[in-house]
Amino acid sequence: MNDSLRLDDKVVIVTGAGGGLGQAHALLFARHGARVVVNDLGGSTHGEGASTSAADRVVAQIREAGGTAVANHDSVSDGQRIVEQALDTFGRVDVLVNNAGILRDKTFHKMEDSDWEQVYQVHVAGAYKVTRAAWPHLREQNAGRVIFTSSTSGIYGNFGQANYGMAKLGLYGLTRTLAIEGRKHGILVNAIAPTGGTRMTEGLLPPQVFEQLKPELVSPLVVYLGSEQCQDSGGLYEVGGGWVGKVRWERSLGVGFNPHEGFSAEDVAANWERISDFADAVHPRDSLEALQQMMANLQKYQ
Ligand SMILES: NC(=O)c1ccc[n+]([C@@H]2O[C@H](COP(=O)([O-])OP(=O)(O)OC[C@H]3O[C@@H](n4cnc5c(N)ncnc54)[C@H](O)[C@@H]3O)[C@@H](O)[C@H]2O)c1
Repeated sequence: MNDSLRLDDKVVIVTGAGGGLGQAHALLFARHGARVVVNDLGGSTHGEGASTSAADRVVAQIREAGGTAVANHDSVSDGQRIVEQALDTFGRVDVLVNNAGILRDKTFHKMEDSDWEQVYQVHVAGAYKVTRAAWPHLREQNAGRVIFTSSTSGIYGNFGQANYGMAKLGLYGLTRTLAIEGRKHGILVNAIAPTGGTRMTEGLLPPQVFEQLKPELVSPLVVYLGSEQCQDSGGLYEVGGGWVGKVRWERSLGVGFNPHEGFSAEDVAANWERISDFADAVHPRDSLEALQQMMANLQKYQ
């Protein structure tokens, strides 16, 4: 390993780090010199039960390799406690990787309130709780990195994952606004949409592909996003199988109607092809840029 990217004085919290992707992130952060809070509730993929062994095992692995880590067994729903443990043990927090997650896959017509609610609670409310608790400390030190774990199921949709897709794209919305609010305080916020062979994807991916999509092939991106070398914020990166790419919004140039005369559903129908034509697509970077075509249309008919 090329050791140029070091995080020696940094304290990193990785939630859900008792297995799968989180474990790989925690191990790699430790190899880069960071002190790691290995959080994991130790429940099932379905979000049931709890056990201390998952986080403890990863801490033992890190220590055996000469690294520094402490276990935390709280749920992300008690985010304050996780951040307190980082402060009590290591005196600071620099990087937060929101990775904990569960699945409650069901087609929407079979979805129960509890499936919807539980997935929201762990992915969205849980990530909010930990991030909200860490935020004042990151602001105070005028530096920090936060990484959220989104999913292609949120970006593109996926059969049977209405609850999960909602939660995962919600995290990207959170990423975008925290990137804006955090920038002047030195806090950079990014999101990843990973694919990895873990207990979450076991049985869903063909075994041969599952084997090749090693969780370790996601973590280098996460460590980079957690480092000072990374100066980008608000990004969304798809990653897996040794491949990394960046995702952005794209919008058609659109069609402008006369706002004073109004326009009809028939006008929409007649222009549908042009409305949906991405030939001269634009890529707004913020809400202000997103308004440009709309404002130009108002001006055109002034
Ligand atoms: N594996 C993939 O291909 C894939 C794809 C897209 C997104 N993701 C996301 O990546 C993250 C990691 O998933 P994974 O594939 O490694 O699955 P995983 O089940 O191996 O890891 C998730 C971990 O989160 C922990 N966890 C669950 N609820 C928790 C809570 N309330 N508090 C603390 N810890 C809790 C679990 O105990 C588990 O160790 C998840 O957010 C998942 O949604 C994974």
